[in-house]
Amino acid sequence: MRPPIDHGTVLIIGAAGGIGRELARLLSPRVRTLVLVAREVQELMPLRDELLLRNPTLGVMLEACHLDDPHAVDALFEHLERHYVRVDVLINNADHTISGLYAEARWKRIEELVHANVVAPAMLTHRLLGPMLERGRGGILMVGSAAARLFLPGAVMFAATQRFLDGFSESLRLELEDTGIPVTFVAPGPLALEPPLPDEVTPFFQLSLHQCAREALAGFERGEALVYPGLGHRWMMRLLRLLPRSFKRGLGRLALGGLRRKLLLHPSSPEAGAPPRPVLLAGGEPSSAS
Ligand SMILES: NC(=O)c1ccc[n+]([C@@H]2O[C@H](COP(=O)([O-])OP(=O)(O)OC[C@H]3O[C@@H](n4cnc5c(N)ncnc54)[C@H](OP(=O)(O)O)[C@@H]3O)[C@@H](O)[C@H]2O)c1
Repeated sequence: MRPPIDHGTVLIIGAAGGIGRELARLLSPRVRTLVLVAREVQELMPLRDELLLRNPTLGVMLEACHLDDPHAVDALFEHLERHYVRVDVLINNADHTISGLYAEARWKRIEELVHANVVAPAMLTHRLLGPMLERGRGGILMVGSAAARLFLPGAVMFAATQRFLDGFSESLRLELEDTGIPVTFVAPGPLALEPPLPDEVTPFFQLSLHQCAREALAGFERGEALVYPGLGHRWMMRLLRLLPRSFKRGLGRLALGGLRRKLLLHPSSPEAGAPPRPVLLAGGEPSSAS
């Protein structure tokens, strides 16, 4: 069950940077058309120029789509339909992240995150699956995060939405098992920033964006259900599965300790519209905010 990449049309959501851009580079010599999506078309233009320079016969469409807007996916599809674009493979790679304590986040931002990370991927998949099933070919690559397997205070909604993507992909994969449409979930760990931050501390098992994209694509083409890119990360995640849930809580508490120290050192005022403090800053007891 190989996804129809060669000479096909691949839609990449979140192609302006990171893994999405690397996937576009890897796919460009093989596909007929790439439909690249980001929030702003201008962000995609340098990539289009680079790809066309190396592959003059490649078809490249650039589309702007704010996934946190509930109507954006409909507008994107209307546009694709008007141009008779038939998508063979969906790569869902965009993610929306907010960091900080959950109680301090504005509800509007939480809603936007849920739209971008949950509603949009589900909707995109739903819109594309019908035609893929009619043709008896297609493929869906969901790029998520190893956060799907962790407890992440400071990124509560992000971790929760990654669990959604994991469960969604695995369950859908079973529904589609005999249809010729593979579904793969990719769960990377820490990736190298490009360009790197000057004072960046390199985490264990950090992988380059290129290597991550290469392994994600290779796993997808082998029809794997789950890809952990990078040997070290893969073994780490396998080991984590064998450890009790309490171990993961311990890791989460460590992360929370780091976040509290950061907040105490660099206190930022809560966002406009956020619920009033007190906030759980130092230890288990609520502390009144100054
Ligand atoms: N980087 C890491 O260390 C890491 C680690 C583990 C997992 N991952 C996962 O890998 C995937 C890609 O991450 P990345 O770091 O490569 O991403 P990135 O460099 O931040 O790029 C994300 C892409 O998504 C687009 N995007 C973000 N929010 C959007 C929205 N609301 N509507 C439309 N487009 C939106 C961005 O468009 P704009 O350019 O317009 O903002 C950009 O093209 C994500 O699912 C992430 O969770 C990343």
